[in-house]
Amino acid sequence: MAAELRLGGAALVLALLFSISSHFSLLNASSSPQDIQIVNAERRIDLTSHIIKVFLTLKIENTGTSPVSEVLLAFPPTEVDHVALVKAAVTAGKKKKKTYHPLDVKPSEQSNAPNGAKFFSVSLLKPLSKGEMATLEVLYELTHSLEPFPLEISQSESQLVYFRDSALLLSPYYIKQQTTFIRTPSTKVESFTKLESTNRVGTELKYGPYSDRAPYSFSPIIVHFENNNPFAVVEELVREVEISHWGSLQITENYRLVHAGARHKGVFSRVEYQSRPAQSGVSSFKRILARLPPRVHSVYYRDNIGNISSSRLRTDYQKSELEIEPRYPLFGGWKATFVIGYVLPLQDFLFESSDGRRYLNFTFGCPLIDTVVDKLTIKVVLPEGSKDPSVVTPFPVEQQLETKYTYLDVVGRTVVVLEKKNVVPEHNSPFQVYYNFKPIFMLAEPLMLVVAFFLFFVASTAYMHIDLSLSK
Ligand SMILES: *[C@@H]1O[C@H](CO)[C@@H](O)[C@H](O)[C@H]1NC(C)=O
Ligand SMILES: *[C@@H]1O[C@H](CO)[C@@H](O)[C@H](O)[C@H]1NC(C)=O
Repeated sequence: MAAELRLGGAALVLALLFSISSHFSLLNASSSPQDIQIVNAERRIDLTSHIIKVFLTLKIENTGTSPVSEVLLAFPPTEVDHVALVKAAVTAGKKKKKTYHPLDVKPSEQSNAPNGAKFFSVSLLKPLSKGEMATLEVLYELTHSLEPFPLEISQSESQLVYFRDSALLLSPYYIKQQTTFIRTPSTKVESFTKLESTNRVGTELKYGPYSDRAPYSFSPIIVHFENNNPFAVVEELVREVEISHWGSLQITENYRLVHAGARHKGVFSRVEYQSRPAQSGVSSFKRILARLPPRVHSVYYRDNIGNISSSRLRTDYQKSELEIEPRYPLFGGWKATFVIGYVLPLQDFLFESSDGRRYLNFTFGCPLIDTVVDKLTIKVVLPEGSKDPSVVTPFPVEQQLETKYTYLDVVGRTVVVLEKKNVVPEHNSPFQVYYNFKPIFMLAEPLMLVVAFFLFFVASTAYMHIDLSLSK
């Protein structure tokens, strides 16, 4: 009797749940714009570096009745945490006359998406009316998404990695026609998932064309291939940019660099490494290039032992390149901690805005090429006496203020602290820090010196007087 009751109760709860969920899906159908169809989707996945770049071309059509101003891009929940950036543009014209207009992209919450899919929403320049078509170009980049297998390799072995995705583009829309191209760094591909219409030629793998796929279609694929490109990851980078109104910008950068590929196994033989450079340590890297602004000077590079002289600086009108070489080559799992410092002419980076405020226009991101930064902190140290700082960045970053005291400072300097996680080279774009400054403050430091000398003079005179009076 009791068991029957319990069963009845469970059935009731189930029925209730069902009615609730069907209610929700009804709500969803009416609110989400199922009025878009993708006429053609072309996806190009570039796996040549450890930073994965995906170029998507979407030809969309409004098949509904009302105008549409937003297009959703879907990501599997396992992938979304690795998305470093998403950019979108709408294109007009053909071939050489093609023009690009950047569009706003932001993360978007959609309730009860199947399998926990996550979304970014692209805002169109003008709403797409009924029956109209548009072509979107999307770029997104993924970090930490190539999984080394085997997990550990010896000095002479090549590095193999897994890449997982879907042969079908995950999308909330119906897709009429689609093709995916995957580019590998070399022709050394151990294995890949074979589905209908799978083709491999040289370094290119092709999935498709596939036609008429329902929303949220997914078809897992896995590619196992060789990738010996430097898996250079900076776990933490702190860049300090100190503005001195006496004419210079002093930059100090603290790096914690790691080789994030397959872990090194066994002992490291420097003899083998140096005598057979082509085979030994193919997955390791020993040099890394930093792109610095032109007119850089007083460059130094040191680690906790001291200065490292094995760095070369090349400069020209447009840029400077600093090639740095840690004390040992980096193999999988190995780390190097070091500091780079340099000085830049202030007039290249400090300007006055039309409303009389001063502003620093500097590059965000990391100067090391082809590097992921897990956590980046930029500290802009403003001159003493600066007030009301405000920051303009091309993407959202965390901000806070600190105060720093250096010698001869009276009230301390305001430090604008910017923080961002998962930074890729695509984030190297200008940002600005605006502040108010009264030129009289420039006299503060020299005045302090004058006052100090004067006091010293008074004190020593007084001392001599006392001394004299005592001797009498
Ligand atoms: C390291 O190099 C910097 C800049 O060239 C120099 O000022 C400093 O004295 C050097 N330190 C040592 C320990 O050699
Ligand atoms: C900042 O500098 C870049 C070039 O480095 C320039 O294109 C941009 O217009 C500058 N921004 C401002 C606000 O001055």
